Amino acid sequence: MNRPKVLITRSDIPTVGLNLLKEQCDVIIWEKPEPIPRSALLSKIQNVDGVYCLLTDKIDAEVLDAAGPQLKVVASMSVGVDHLDLQALKKRNIKVGYTPGILTDATAELTVALLLATSRRLIEANRAIYKGEWKAWSPTWMCGPGLSGSTVGIVGLGRIGTQVAKCLKGFNVNKILYTSRNVKQEASEFGGEKVELDLLLQTSDFVIVTTALTTETRQMFNQSAFTKMKKSAIFINVSRGEVVDQPALLEALKNGTIQAAGLDVMTPEPIPLNSELLKLNNCVILPHIGSAAIETREEMSRITAKNIIAVLIGKPAEMPTPLQL
Ligand code: DGY
Repeated sequence: MNRPKVLITRSDIPTVGLNLLKEQCDVIIWEKPEPIPRSALLSKIQNVDGVYCLLTDKIDAEVLDAAGPQLKVVASMSVGVDHLDLQALKKRNIKVGYTPGILTDATAELTVALLLATSRRLIEANRAIYKGEWKAWSPTWMCGPGLSGSTVGIVGLGRIGTQVAKCLKGFNVNKILYTSRNVKQEASEFGGEKVELDLLLQTSDFVIVTTALTTETRQMFNQSAFTKMKKSAIFINVSRGEVVDQPALLEALKNGTIQAAGLDVMTPEPIPLNSELLKLNNCVILPHIGSAAIETREEMSRITAKNIIAVLIGKPAEMPTPLQL
């Protein structure tokens, strides 16, 4: 029997997913640890039945046409799906898999770490030691706002935002505000209050973005949004860089419109080494490592492989985490 052909767009995916696919499919791998160039994607995808992709691969109509009509499933090792043209996939009746839920805890942990690193100036303080600036314990040196008693605003209360809020309860925050289309039942667990975005921006000491990137959220954090925030506000983004107007954020950080920012995502990624953001003491930047817990990445890879196998060997109804198109 002919085994299905699957393209894997990166060489260093966790072996658990790779082995699962190799057992049942003929696998074509982009053999480099860098993202597959567009031209290689367009050529390697031809005639495959399934694709294992990452958030760095833009899968649009051109790519799907290059693949051919036999393509049955595209599974992304990510919860974000803004790199996939969902309409084009739906039109061709291609099943889509993603990894919701699996990376919730890891990303929430990282969000809290970034929040603390930014507010309590951990990176800046660490660098200060190496620069010889630590002369003695000092009553006012390297102080930053604490979480206890603060108001935290979570923009886009989904799985990750909810888990962040639950973690933050342990830090004795005073109030958790959130934005969302609907009132979330689970918010009662941490006393979360649904409010309009403007009110959240005006009253939060910490603004945490966990919303998905959509046409509504693209560039949502622009000059007007930063101007509404408190001067003492700390802005954290773990969603996608494109929800932020980055030049406006840079200005807001430079001229004191807000106090500081912690970013796990930005535009572009990787951030160019000459970016002005990297020169600011009040901006902590991480290289998109929200889900980078070992077990999480292994499980993301296992589920991505299973999503593909369900469609190509079993039944689409057996996909562990299908995206409803
Ligand atoms: C995702 O899966 O979309 C995350 O951004 C990766 O950490």
